[in-house]
Amino acid sequence: MFYKERTIIKLEGVTKVFNVKSQKVTAIEKLNLSIYDGEFLCIVGPSGCGKTTLLRILAGLEQQTSGRVIISPREPEKPLNSMVFQGDSLFPWMTVKQNVAYGLKMRGVAPKDYEKVVAHYINMMGLSKFENAYPHQLSGGMRQRVSVARAFANDPEILLLDEPFGALDEQNRILLQQELLKIWEGTFKTAVFITHSIDEALILGDRVLVMTAHPGRLKAEIKIDLPRPRDTLSMRANKRFVELYEQIWSYLKEEVIKAKSAV
Ligand SMILES: Nc1ncnc2c1ncn2[C@@H]1O[C@H](COP(=O)(O)OP(=O)(O)O)[C@@H](O)[C@H]1O
Ligand SMILES: [Mg+2]
Repeated sequence: MFYKERTIIKLEGVTKVFNVKSQKVTAIEKLNLSIYDGEFLCIVGPSGCGKTTLLRILAGLEQQTSGRVIISPREPEKPLNSMVFQGDSLFPWMTVKQNVAYGLKMRGVAPKDYEKVVAHYINMMGLSKFENAYPHQLSGGMRQRVSVARAFANDPEILLLDEPFGALDEQNRILLQQELLKIWEGTFKTAVFITHSIDEALILGDRVLVMTAHPGRLKAEIKIDLPRPRDTLSMRANKRFVELYEQIWSYLKEEVIKAKSAV
């Protein structure tokens, strides 16, 4: 399924300014952006360009200083979004199962109604043997699997993922990308995925946005016309993959250099 034409999130001139002591830091500036219903959107940009700030605004965790954020859900009865954070965000005192069930439980769903769903996503993420384990008993890769399972189990319309695999070793990252694709394909969920890896953006995305160095604005938009379902290993050898990689890198390189010279 390729992304559809209906806009689910629209940003109009969104600016976010933080007050740090007596200084103002503009994290994102006059950002205009349409996110389409059901698409997998990846965002890349140099460190500090406002990617996390943008996602937190989309999640409603942060309020923009000016501009408008218009969200038009397809199924308003569903939770609007679930976020997978950069780094660890599990509740350490809860087991894998309790962590994955958290959103459903908070919404008042009865255990008999959510147990199957929770078991399904735990199984999809290869964690069935660990469902009663606590986060400290798991590896970093397994903890991120739990975070992904928790986000899907909550069944939101929009998934917001902030460099969820950034801290993992390459083998784990490849496995998790495959698992994420497998569980996302066919869900019709809109996904906004932040990454610093062009490779990852191409493997997962329908569209890649490149943000400028601080303050974040949109630099380029690239449609990823690679077929689905995707085989994460063989697609790296695809000629189109290499072309797209080079195109995105040429935009990103300029911004990374700018970000470096600003330090
Ligand atoms: N809560 C905050 N208070 C003050 N400054 C912040 C806050 N969050 C982010 N910033 C600043 O906004 C800019 C963008 O940060 P962030 O969105 O985390 O970037 P990225 O995720 O792209 O690395 C940075 O200069 C950062 O220091
Ligand atoms: Mg960030």
